[in-house]
Amino acid sequence: MRSALLLAVFGALVLAVLGSATSGPTYNRDVAPILDAKCASCHRLGGIAPFSLTTAADAKAHAAGIVRLTKAGLMPPWMPGADSASIVGRDKRRLTTDELATLSRWAAAGAPAGNPADRHSKPSLGAGLSGPGRTVTLAPAKAYTPHAPGGAIDDYHCFVLDPKLTQDAFVTAALIKPQRTGIVHHVILYEAAGAQATDATRLNAASGGKGWTCFGGPGLPFDLSGSSSLSRLGQPPWIAAWVPGHTTNALPSGTGVLLHKGSKIVMQVHYNLIEAAGPDRSQAQLRLRPATTPLTPLETQLYAAPVELPCPDGVSGPQCSRQKTLQEEVDKYGASAAFVPAGLLKLCNRTLADYPQSVGLGTSIPTTCDRAITQKETVYGVAGHMHLRGQDISVVLNPGTPKEQTLLHIPAWVFHWQDVYYLKEPVTIGPGDTVRVRCTFDNSKAGQPVIGDKQLTPRYVLWGEGSTDEMCLAMLSVAIGA
Ligand code: HEC
Repeated sequence: MRSALLLAVFGALVLAVLGSATSGPTYNRDVAPILDAKCASCHRLGGIAPFSLTTAADAKAHAAGIVRLTKAGLMPPWMPGADSASIVGRDKRRLTTDELATLSRWAAAGAPAGNPADRHSKPSLGAGLSGPGRTVTLAPAKAYTPHAPGGAIDDYHCFVLDPKLTQDAFVTAALIKPQRTGIVHHVILYEAAGAQATDATRLNAASGGKGWTCFGGPGLPFDLSGSSSLSRLGQPPWIAAWVPGHTTNALPSGTGVLLHKGSKIVMQVHYNLIEAAGPDRSQAQLRLRPATTPLTPLETQLYAAPVELPCPDGVSGPQCSRQKTLQEEVDKYGASAAFVPAGLLKLCNRTLADYPQSVGLGTSIPTTCDRAITQKETVYGVAGHMHLRGQDISVVLNPGTPKEQTLLHIPAWVFHWQDVYYLKEPVTIGPGDTVRVRCTFDNSKAGQPVIGDKQLTPRYVLWGEGSTDEMCLAMLSVAIGA
């Protein structure tokens, strides 16, 4: 008993001495608040990062890497350039100069833990589903083992999910949980309302409940007459999407995506089979509130630009023929794939003559598309999408005019870090305004994607569904008429 007491007193003394000896930053007092707030949402057990940063031992083990990557601005990952509009959550991701200095001094002093009693912060959890409402968890009836048509490495599969809505409802947050993240390249949730719900149910029944192959979109009959259908490129309304790097699940407060009673949800999963496939049963969780809640309804618009990437100088052969690439896309994704490149040129008032066939080394091949806004709408969020040869993407309002405003610019595209960015101050636009999406691509020899351990050789690349085809796509989350 006495010795235990002595030990406790001695322990307290040692701690006090240690505590006063380290006047510099300690993990518990100074570093944990930074890592808990800005790293732990990914760097925790079950998070998307490969290791945890939630204890003094974790932090010490990675101290050198922490300093190196935060100084270089690579961690926490934040893709939008400084010329982008103010984006919600930026301050949670960027480290301040003081925070960087604290991390450096702490690491330089040997990454001391300090006194556990000084720790007052808690690791932030990943963005789950929060706020008022109820959560529904939706999963396909069965797991699906993806397989690609002859020689291809991409499979697009559509599953039907039933939210069993007896009343209209707002989705205020969506958490998509890809099961096999090694092969899931994207997930999109579409609303199939009215006749489309019937079609989705029919397609699903015809597949024996396993879902169907759906390159491009869910393959439901649609009506292209309305302007909002055109702005979705003929696809059903989007509810939510997941791409690698996606971490923003909640819609801006005061907004929601309206789901109609009786609707089905079509979940399109793009599987990329570079890695070995296995059965996948990805899930979606939606936070729902009654449609009577006074929320501003948001919808997703798609702004696409043509992709025409000729072979660089010094590379020739049949693979450099546009016609051959077009034929391959038809073979892989069906006859409608042939219309996409021509349709995009037309949609953007461009012709092939706007895309020089001689591109030098091919390290930076641009494309743009301007679209005139035809109705009053408020832009709440913006996202960009390209595949593996993407370099730079921007979404600019009224380019080349005094009213020019960059909504989003991602200057160093990384396929694995894609997200949707909500504007701190939503921007109202209308007739007279123009939205430009601009992308650049690297189709040089050195810029080719590496599949497995093999680097592809350059070829003519067009807009296409495969991971080794390309896209130049902006998504705007808007409220119409608001
Ligand atoms: C949005 C998720 C996310 C956040 C937030 C985040 N990380 Fe990471 N981090 C990752 C992922 C994923 C990897 C592994 C893949 C990669 O390097 O991109 C990683 C890798 C790292 C590495 C190892 C990289 C290497 O090349 O050795 C370090 C060190 C690191 N993170 C430190 C931090 C620190 C420090 C913070 C906070 C100040 C932080 N990260 C915040 C997701 C995140």
